[in-house]
Amino acid sequence: MSPQLALWWCLVLLSALIPTGVSQMGNSEVYALIAFRDNLINPPDWIKNWDDTLAVPCSLLRITCDDENKVIRMDLGNAGLSGALAPELGVLSHLQYLELYGNNFSGLIPKELGNLTALVSLDLYQNNFTGNIPDSLGQLSNLLFLRLNNNSLSGSIPSSLTNIAGLYQLDLSYNNLTGEVPNNGSFSRFTPISFIGNINLCGSLVNQDCPGQAPFSSSSPGSTLSPPNEMAPPNQESKNRKVIILASAISAAVLVFLILGLTIIVCQNRKHSQDLPK
Ligand SMILES: *[C@@H]1O[C@H](CO)[C@@H](O)[C@H](O)[C@H]1NC(C)=O
Ligand SMILES: *[C@@H]1O[C@H](CO)[C@@H](O)[C@H](O)[C@H]1NC(C)=O
Ligand SMILES: *[C@@H]1O[C@H](CO)[C@@H](O)[C@H](O)[C@H]1NC(C)=O
Ligand SMILES: *[C@@H]1O[C@H](CO)[C@@H](O)[C@H](O)[C@H]1NC(C)=O
Ligand SMILES: *[C@@H]1O[C@H](CO)[C@@H](O)[C@H](O)[C@H]1NC(C)=O
Ligand SMILES: *[C@@H]1O[C@H](CO)[C@@H](O)[C@H](O)[C@H]1NC(C)=O
Repeated sequence: MSPQLALWWCLVLLSALIPTGVSQMGNSEVYALIAFRDNLINPPDWIKNWDDTLAVPCSLLRITCDDENKVIRMDLGNAGLSGALAPELGVLSHLQYLELYGNNFSGLIPKELGNLTALVSLDLYQNNFTGNIPDSLGQLSNLLFLRLNNNSLSGSIPSSLTNIAGLYQLDLSYNNLTGEVPNNGSFSRFTPISFIGNINLCGSLVNQDCPGQAPFSSSSPGSTLSPPNEMAPPNQESKNRKVIILASAISAAVLVFLILGLTIIVCQNRKHSQDLPK
């Protein structure tokens, strides 16, 4: 092969590779949204008809892009959607608003959502999600709104969520969460209202002592009542011992005073009788 021919082949290969490379980068977001659609059960027509041949997903209904044709919003709240949430959504690296509230999504919250580090608002409330809250959501460092309320989530609240420094609103209410509610980091600004409707949560943030742990506050009536009950037997015993010791001491003192008194009286009587003039 001559050098000219080699160069020509190189140019042909490059010109073929560059455009497909670019369009495939654009398409990865289209693929993610198509995967999202294909995971739905009986989707409504307007989403069923999402065009999967698009170069960029920006013309899709309820999808918003930025100037670089990257998806920044999915506004699909109250849209009558059922089925599982596709993990492929994790590639939408510019996504800021994921609004899927008020649908009928079921199954797990994909841990891949932890890759959506541009996310400002994650609204999955009022669905039928089950399983744990993924640890990976703690990586969403730009999150201001995390609302997972009114689902059937179980397990404990991951402590990783306390690392989301700017978290402004947290709603985990009406799930089936258990265990201790973290109270450090960003959680220090939340109140019981974020956690109501989860019968098995405990900790200072929900005013509920955790089983097998020291009470966090002596002002709650439950915590002041039980410890003294447990302490009762040793307390009573030591009290009894004290009473016995005190009684013996008093008896001994009384006895000493009696003997001393009697001795003085006897001695004085003797003295008197000796002193009496004859
Ligand atoms: C919700 O989803 C479940 C399971 O996917 C399905 O059986 C049910 O019909 C759905 N309900 C509505 C109102 O779409
Ligand atoms: C996306 O998230 C998954 C699970 O959390 C992780 O294994 C994977 O490496 C992430 N991918 C990228 C591109 O960050
Ligand atoms: C699914 O969620 C809806 C409200 O979003 C609720 O009315 C329904 O009872 C839930 N279904 C199940 C099986 O949890
Ligand atoms: C969540 O569930 C509670 C209890 O069933 C209900 O009172 C509340 O209105 C629900 N909130 C939403 C946003 O669905
Ligand atoms: C909540 O969890 C308990 C035990 O972990 C389980 O028996 C119950 O069915 C769950 N309820 C819901 C609504 O998921
Ligand atoms: C809160 O405490 C947990 C467990 O002790 C820890 O993993 C987490 O990093 C802490 N969060 C902050 C913000 O310090």
